[in-house]
Amino acid sequence: MTTKVVPGLLIAAPDPEQAAKEAAHRMARATREAIGTRGRAAIALSGGSTPRRAYELLAKDPKVDWSRVNTFLVDERAVPPTDPRSNYRMVKEALLDRAGVQEDHVFRMRAESSDLEDAAREYEALIKKHVPKGAFDLIVLGVGEDGHTASLFPGRPEVEITDRLVVAVPAHEGREPRLTIAPPVIEAARHVMILAFGKAKHEPLERVWEVSGSAKDTPARVVRGARGTICWVIDRAAGGMG
Ligand code: 6PG
Repeated sequence: MTTKVVPGLLIAAPDPEQAAKEAAHRMARATREAIGTRGRAAIALSGGSTPRRAYELLAKDPKVDWSRVNTFLVDERAVPPTDPRSNYRMVKEALLDRAGVQEDHVFRMRAESSDLEDAAREYEALIKKHVPKGAFDLIVLGVGEDGHTASLFPGRPEVEITDRLVVAVPAHEGREPRLTIAPPVIEAARHVMILAFGKAKHEPLERVWEVSGSAKDTPARVVRGARGTICWVIDRAAGGMG
């Protein structure tokens, strides 16, 4: 028998739409609080399919002053920014364009670069320049069916990196190369929000919530090392309730 303890706050909504509303509301609140306290906010957003609706709802929130927000990406696939698989493209379409965010407040990862190492160093320098102490006010993460988060994949060394903020991830098991934030960025964030919808996410969530386990096997366990607040927004199916 394994012991499970959810680190942080768990919001289990009845369905994906309600979960997206909860997530958008909390993203807006974390962003507004940062602006209220420090005059500016820095947020890092994941791609994938799960957060799209939450971003659309966030874009409609009139209380977020986007002129005071710098938006970064959590990870990016090695495709042009116009490619349907581009995380930047998804975030742009769902949130940035709808909210009218100025281009110079958006920092996309140049994962289409032929030199991903160089692109990783460049993004790390951007974070150091614009995000005091590398501490984002909000990081939005997803969980993959294999237990990955960001582009930290099972069995790969990136999840154990302690001295970098951004790293290149080579092509692996049919996936294109990627750029990803490294664990120290997740650990330093003021708020970490993880979104997981659908029954395929139930098993990986259970592995993340087990008290003991390996981040090498289930990289989303890096969230357990976060020093800020952790909030899980899931639907019933991801919670194993139908
Ligand atoms: C990506 C992501 C990744 C994502 C999970 C969940 O580039 O794929 O940033 O970490 O959050 O894979 O993806 P879904 O939301 O599509 O299930």
